Amino acid sequence: MTRVQLERLTIRGLNLDAGGNSFAQDVAEGLTSTPKTLPPKYFYDGLGSRLFEAICRLPEYYLTRSEAEILTTNSDEIAASVEGPVRLIEFGSGNSEKTRCLIEAFLRRQKQLHYVPVDISWSSLERSSRELLRDYPGLTVTAYAMEYYAALARLSEGEARPAARNVALFLGSNIGNFDEEESRAFLRGVRTMLDDGGALLLGADLKKSTGVLLPAYDDALGVTAAFNLNILGRINRELGGEFNLKTFEHRAAYNDRLSRIEMRLMSRIRQVVPIRALSVDIAFEEGETIHTENSYKFDLDQLAGIAKNSGFSLTRSWFDESNWFSFNFLAARRLD
Ligand code: AVI
Repeated sequence: MTRVQLERLTIRGLNLDAGGNSFAQDVAEGLTSTPKTLPPKYFYDGLGSRLFEAICRLPEYYLTRSEAEILTTNSDEIAASVEGPVRLIEFGSGNSEKTRCLIEAFLRRQKQLHYVPVDISWSSLERSSRELLRDYPGLTVTAYAMEYYAALARLSEGEARPAARNVALFLGSNIGNFDEEESRAFLRGVRTMLDDGGALLLGADLKKSTGVLLPAYDDALGVTAAFNLNILGRINRELGGEFNLKTFEHRAAYNDRLSRIEMRLMSRIRQVVPIRALSVDIAFEEGETIHTENSYKFDLDQLAGIAKNSGFSLTRSWFDESNWFSFNFLAARRLD
């Protein structure tokens, strides 16, 4: 456990930018199962986090802009929905870019704000925390460089139980990368961490035409392809893999029945790829795929159901002009 403490900034966690043991285990498990899979959380090493930031700037990737539009237009109203003072806990904070609107809105209502970003990427956390502290003198940051459940456990233990009301943030439709069971488990964990009167602010992408959805996950510049392929690059760098990235192809498809974008990496050729640190050789047929990510798209009824099943009530939603993205206020229901 590493702890870096500077004035107004504490970073807790392990510098897991090099994936550690669980990466090796999950890669071994995923690539020896049928069909082959890799967990999307491993996209986000230093390079992967930068590539994701680039995705967020792509003209095709409307999610970030739509959510930013909602936040720019409504952040004062959103902040006023919670009785303060507030402590903001953000899961999957990345570069915290969109959170700035909310941070500013809360700082208009309270002089000091304690912001608690949780992200698996130490490098992103450190960079963004320093930038935030430079820009907002009223801010204190305690950053957790770890997986969500590890941070939830620490926060629930009351490691830093505050006088302020906890408000959790889960932006960018990160919820869409969970399947139903994962999202219920995670949101229940968040609910347990919150006090009665707390809230979860949830950004969730909405169902829409494939004409809009698909290019967002298969852009003309090939940034999403690079983001997807980087997971193989990461296996090469950290686990002695011998993937030739040129022999794999990014694939994105919309699964209408399950309302989700599915991302895969397809082997262009029949080949065997050694991964030295795992002492395995992974065989691929020509055209065989590795399923790397699902990105679910929602409607409001589903979101209300997800909220209800995990101890929340969906009390209010905000939308962008095109109605492509939703920002939802989930009030913590009393736990019996
Ligand atoms: C982080 N997450 C919400 C993104 C998404 O849209 O599912 C990850 C991503 N994958 C490809 N492009 C962006």
